[in-house]
Amino acid sequence: AGPGPLAGKVVAISAGGTREPLDPVRYLGNRSSGRQGIALAKAALVAGATVRFIAAHMDLPAPEGVELSTASTAAQLQGAVTEAARGADVLIMSAAVADFRPAEYVGSKIKKSDDHADPVITLVRNPDILAMLIAQRAAEGVAGDLPPLVVGFAAETGDAEAGVLEYGAAKLARKGCEMLVVNEVGENLTFGTDENTVTILFADGAEPVHASGSKDQVASSVIEAVAGALGEGTR
Ligand code: C5P
Repeated sequence: AGPGPLAGKVVAISAGGTREPLDPVRYLGNRSSGRQGIALAKAALVAGATVRFIAAHMDLPAPEGVELSTASTAAQLQGAVTEAARGADVLIMSAAVADFRPAEYVGSKIKKSDDHADPVITLVRNPDILAMLIAQRAAEGVAGDLPPLVVGFAAETGDAEAGVLEYGAAKLARKGCEMLVVNEVGENLTFGTDENTVTILFADGAEPVHASGSKDQVASSVIEAVAGALGEGTR
């Protein structure tokens, strides 16, 4: 076998789900298992890439052969992703980042109150890491070293099928990334399973690509699309 389609390329991939602490024993989290991100890393390695893998919380260990960094909260992930993205050819943001975090962290375990009052948790917005990196890239211009190809993920519940193209196109434009992988999630769909059905959208107007099957098969399709986009010289 000759050199793979991503030989000489550096691919940064975030994976897993962030956790936002409420007190020393509790957090707000999500059902991301990290499986799709792990599959992407393996496919990128097979394609010959150097893989920088930024792992939030995952059910499985990171694959062997990657340059690994870890993060727990969205804020930590932002730092780790920014560092890994510098000098990379591609950033794939497959991590499920908490959109909100508790407004305040309580330093000791929150107790049941004597008056039986229901506790209220106030949430505040987390930064959108993907959108901020793309804004940063634009601000730095040609002198910058953020990746020319950024791939976002969009996990949609319920009506994703009906409006996937329209909704995905709007999200692609809003986020400003070059590619968006749209999938449907729910209690028993996608998160934690080995199957996935996605539509890959391209900002340059290329025909959407549908991929369905195991997360390994979906990962191969995404990496193939990435290699294709790099070959064409994105942006
Ligand atoms: O807007 P939405 O959360 O659906 O966008 C999902 C994409 O944005 C994913 O690629 C995810 O990794 C990224 N994201 C992010 N920072 C956030 C929320 C999502 O980078 N706070």
